Order: sequence, then C-alpha cells, then structure tokens
Amino acid sequence: MRLRDKATLVTGGGSGIGRETALRFAAEGARVAVADVRAEAAATTAAEIGGDAVAVTIDVTARASVEAGVATAVAALGGLDVLVCNAGVTIVGSVMDLTEEQWDAELDTNLKSIFLCAKAAWPHLVAGGGGSILSTASIAGTWAIPDDAAYCASKAGVIMLTKCMALDGAKVNVRANCVCPGYTQTPMIEGYFQAQPDPEGARAFAAGMHPLGRLGVPADHAAAFVYLASDDAAWVTGTALVVDGGLTCGVWGG
Ligand SMILES: NC(=O)c1ccc[n+]([C@@H]2O[C@H](COP(=O)([O-])OP(=O)(O)OC[C@H]3O[C@@H](n4cnc5c(N)ncnc54)[C@H](O)[C@@H]3O)[C@@H](O)[C@H]2O)c1
Repeated sequence: MRLRDKATLVTGGGSGIGRETALRFAAEGARVAVADVRAEAAATTAAEIGGDAVAVTIDVTARASVEAGVATAVAALGGLDVLVCNAGVTIVGSVMDLTEEQWDAELDTNLKSIFLCAKAAWPHLVAGGGGSILSTASIAGTWAIPDDAAYCASKAGVIMLTKCMALDGAKVNVRANCVCPGYTQTPMIEGYFQAQPDPEGARAFAAGMHPLGRLGVPADHAAAFVYLASDDAAWVTGTALVVDGGLTCGVWGG
C-alpha cells in the first residue's frame, strides 16, 4: 500500500500502460479516476478496479474537455495528489511523408496534452500541499527512430517539459517525472506490428533488440510509476526513468 489514499487521475487509462497503471495504483491504495477519450474503455477499467474508482471522459487535446474532466475527477476524489499524463498516439512517417494535420495531431495528443492537463491539475496539487505529475515519454524521446519524426519529437518534448515542470514545481512541492518505455506489448504497438509486411517477424525483431530478451509489458511501467508517485521517490524530480530492457544502453549484437 505504497500509495495509500493518494487521489490519482490517469489519462489514457482505458488501455495498455494507462490501464495497468490505474489498476496497480488502486492495488497500492490510491483512489483512482480513469480518464480516456473512449468513455467505454475508461468505464471498463474503473469497473475492473471497483470500489470508489471513477471513469471520466477526457479528450486530452481539447482544453475545455481537460478542464471539465479534471474538475470532475477532483470533485469525485476530493482533491488531487497525482496526475499521470499517459494518453498518446503514434502516427508514423518521415517529415516528407507526414501531413501538417498529422504533425499537429501527434504533437497535440502527446505533448500539448501534458501542458493542458498539468495546467488544469496544478492548482489542485498545490492546494493539497504538493503532489506529483507523471508522464509517459518514450525511448523515442532520446533515440531517433526512422519514419517516426513527429512521435520522436513529441516524446523529446515530454522529457524537457518534465524537467521544466520539475523546476517550477519545486517551489510548491510538486514533483514532475516521466517514464521512457521501450517497445511494450500493448494495442498501440500491436497496431504498429500489424502494419508491417511481416508482423510476426517485426515483433520478433523488436523483442530481440532488447538485451533482456523480451518486449516490455504494461506492468513494467506501472511499477515505475508507483515508485515515482510514492514517498520512496520524495527527492526524485525532473527525471526520465528509462524502462527498456537495456534497449538504449548501447550497441547490442543479440
Ligand atoms: N507501447 C509502446 O511500445 C510504447 C512505448 C513507449 C511509449 N509509449 C507511450 O505509452 C503511452 C500509452 O500507450 P499504450 O502503448 O498503452 O497505447 P494504447 O493505445 O494501448 O493506449 C493509449 C490510450 O490513450 C487513449 N487516448 C488516445 N488519444 C486520446 C485523447 N486524445 N484523449 C484521451 N485519451 C486518448 C486511447 O483511447 C487509449 O486508451 C503513450 O503515451 C505511448 O506513446 C508506448
């Protein structure tokens, strides 16, 4: 029960890493609001948690939706201690391939969303005496991937935004940290594999790139978020915690 009574809002909680994080936080004693743009998915995760978990429909790209959703979550939870900005999408393509609309959609969903959610949550975190803003970045924020220009740029932005919020939040006891996952078995990455000419080959290749010999699973990242939200990480802020099975350590011959 490392997160006993911590009021927590998780975006993108209807699937993958966000779903697992919401479930794990609840198991650690947190009171959880599950947010997703897909209302049914958020409701399903909240129902899996049971108890006093609530579902909130939030489109993280839209300021009005974020403000209303955060207000709903705060009212239901009686405050806010932890915000997990996890919602994200991947739109593949090089600069030459991507349209301006695709670029904007990627940056809005993966980066501007964190600005909007943190801005809406900030006064509530401060009112409670401080708190924690956590985000899902990616190894793609430090490690360029071919044909993934907007995604990589958005995740690099998440890492720097985390550091900026850590400095600004230090004055009011708000910590900001992010997790950088390697390739992780979720519906998002499954969609990427299925779009390849040889999905099974692509999955095996991706797994083999990780020195620890497998793809990540959502639980790997949920555990990292639990640590970063907990009092064990009381002196940790501005960090980008890499959880990637060794993928970005260096050259790996397999
Ligand atoms: N899976 C990986 O390999 C991997 C690797 C590195 C980083 N990440 C990051 O992890 C995070 C979670 O990804 P995942 O793999 O669990 O994907 P996922 O597709 O399983 O889950 C993403 C969730 O975000 C929600 N979402 C999308 N757009 C939204 C919006 N506008 N407003 C609110 N919710 C929205 C979706 O409905 C979905 O429930 C993302 O930020 C992703 O970039 C994933």
